[in-house]
Amino acid sequence: MAEPRISSIDGKLAEEFAVPSHVEEVKEKMAAFAAHHAAAGRQVVLITSGGTKVPLESRTVRFLDNFSSGRRGASSAEYFIESGYAVIFLHRHRSLYPYTRMFSTMNMLDALKFRSGEGASSNCEVVVNQQVLPNIAKVLKRYQEVKESRLLLPIEFNTLSEYLHLLKAAAQALSTIGSKAMFYLAAAVSDFYIPASEMPEHKIQSSNGPLQLSMNMVPKILSPLVKDWAPQAFVISFKLETDATILLDKARRALDTYRHQAVVANVLDSRRGYVVVVTPETQDELLLTEEDEKNEVEIECRIVSNLTSAHKVFISQQAG
Ligand code: PMT
Repeated sequence: MAEPRISSIDGKLAEEFAVPSHVEEVKEKMAAFAAHHAAAGRQVVLITSGGTKVPLESRTVRFLDNFSSGRRGASSAEYFIESGYAVIFLHRHRSLYPYTRMFSTMNMLDALKFRSGEGASSNCEVVVNQQVLPNIAKVLKRYQEVKESRLLLPIEFNTLSEYLHLLKAAAQALSTIGSKAMFYLAAAVSDFYIPASEMPEHKIQSSNGPLQLSMNMVPKILSPLVKDWAPQAFVISFKLETDATILLDKARRALDTYRHQAVVANVLDSRRGYVVVVTPETQDELLLTEEDEKNEVEIECRIVSNLTSAHKVFISQQAG
């Protein structure tokens, strides 16, 4: 099917996806963040992370969700910061977050104890149990440094509508810094939605019998992002498949269609240890060995290193 024209995507966004009330305020914040860091000589990356939620009713009880824990986005944010980037982290509310992601599976009360020698009473001092959290001091130190130097700007979304409008706002905000901006689109975004005009207001009643859903196609936002909203930026999309045999073909097709700089291709089951970075000219396989895994190396470290090098070359080509 033919790709809708850019202007029709803009129109569709305005008409069929509710505009979040804070979008202009967030856009200004992102523009100021980008301008500040670009003036200080830093590149800025916009990371999208987590899955979008598509409501089935206006007063939402049920919704369709896309799978993503947010780990790819959260760990990548840390590696981008270590590489000298400032990061706008556009993430699903309550998905994994940089630095705290390491403790996400933990019950907080298991990581605390009463200071030794004191009995358990409601007013005695509570400290971290270092045996449960041996790395906590190192992570806390880095988290506080990053916070103080304002290298991380977190922005939250929940629904597909919020995601689409906030991504558009981010693209427009970052267009002011040209090729210094990178888009790292790791979020898992729904391909289907129910337009506001066709959505039932109240909870769908099971007493009406089996549910038949008809959903519209979500416009591919990569198209206006690359051509219209941030045409000078370095844009990376992700391609997730469960069937490895179609993955690279789909990644190549995405590059042909959207004409952006790279696709990070991954298969659901092996995504933690193997990805392929596909560009129009190259195909880099990034793989963690057993040794890497023993040393707790993360694949995002390799992905970010690959892409920051390519971004450097891209910036110098745009300047020359
Ligand atoms: O979060 P984790 O659990 O660590 O998992 C990471 C991940 C598997 C989610 C991540 O590595 C990944 O592959 N993310 C993209 C998954 C995806 O849903 O791909 P897609 O085929 O729907 O979309 C492809 C690209 O098009 C994406 O970069 C997306 O941002 C973009 N897109 C999608 C839909 C849409 N309407 N417009 C878009 O531009």
